[in-house]
Amino acid sequence: MKVNIFKTAEEIGVAVARIFVDEVKNNPNCVLGLATGASPIPTYDNIKKLHKEENVSFKGVKTYNLDEYCDLPKSDKNSYYTFMHEQLFNGLDILEENVHFLDGNAVDSEAECKRYDNEINEAGGIDIQLLGIGNNAHIGFNEPAESFTDGSFKVKLTDSTIEANKIYFDENPMPHYALTMGVKQIMAAKKIILIATGPKKAEAIKNMVKGEVTPLVPASVLQEHDDVLIFLDEAAASLL
Ligand code: F6R
Repeated sequence: MKVNIFKTAEEIGVAVARIFVDEVKNNPNCVLGLATGASPIPTYDNIKKLHKEENVSFKGVKTYNLDEYCDLPKSDKNSYYTFMHEQLFNGLDILEENVHFLDGNAVDSEAECKRYDNEINEAGGIDIQLLGIGNNAHIGFNEPAESFTDGSFKVKLTDSTIEANKIYFDENPMPHYALTMGVKQIMAAKKIILIATGPKKAEAIKNMVKGEVTPLVPASVLQEHDDVLIFLDEAAASLL
């Protein structure tokens, strides 16, 4: 685990966008694992900027998002499908057929999760996986649990996650279930980049970096991956 500490979220965005855009330059058919939430927004802004400035095409790139809420229409302003189009895809030349999500409205969520996992495998696996981290150290929507999860699955969100994310839901109530990639699947990515900013993340970051590897701190599993870059601001790094 290599920890990089920056002064601002914007500086993190510049540094992480550089890594992603260089990957696309070197491997125009790469497979990217993407996250939603506040943490990746400066990265997505800078990827869009570099795409234009350096004329880097994303036409061959495939993306797979980590998670999606259940029982929320795809068109809802809070679906992760909408978030990704607004924050990133609409500013790139990426092809719609190459952007992939778990379908949180699938009637058979187990079959949907299997479909998604198979598609990722058929695409050759994820080259770079971007992650945020929950205040409770979740990655994707892998909440603290008795054991590490494997492939994609349907999860009941914890009170901590509902509390942190419900601020975005002013019209419809926040869903209490989501489909998410599993921990083992996240760990199968060739390279993992995790971004955390702000004081609310400091405890989770301390436990992830310095604590024991335990499913009660889902992000601690990243200690066992051999190519993980952590990008923090000073507040998130304050307990290290
Ligand atoms: C989002 C995701 C979550 C977030 C985490 C942090 O796709 O999988 O694990 O990364 O909840 O969210 P923010 O960045 O909003 O603090």
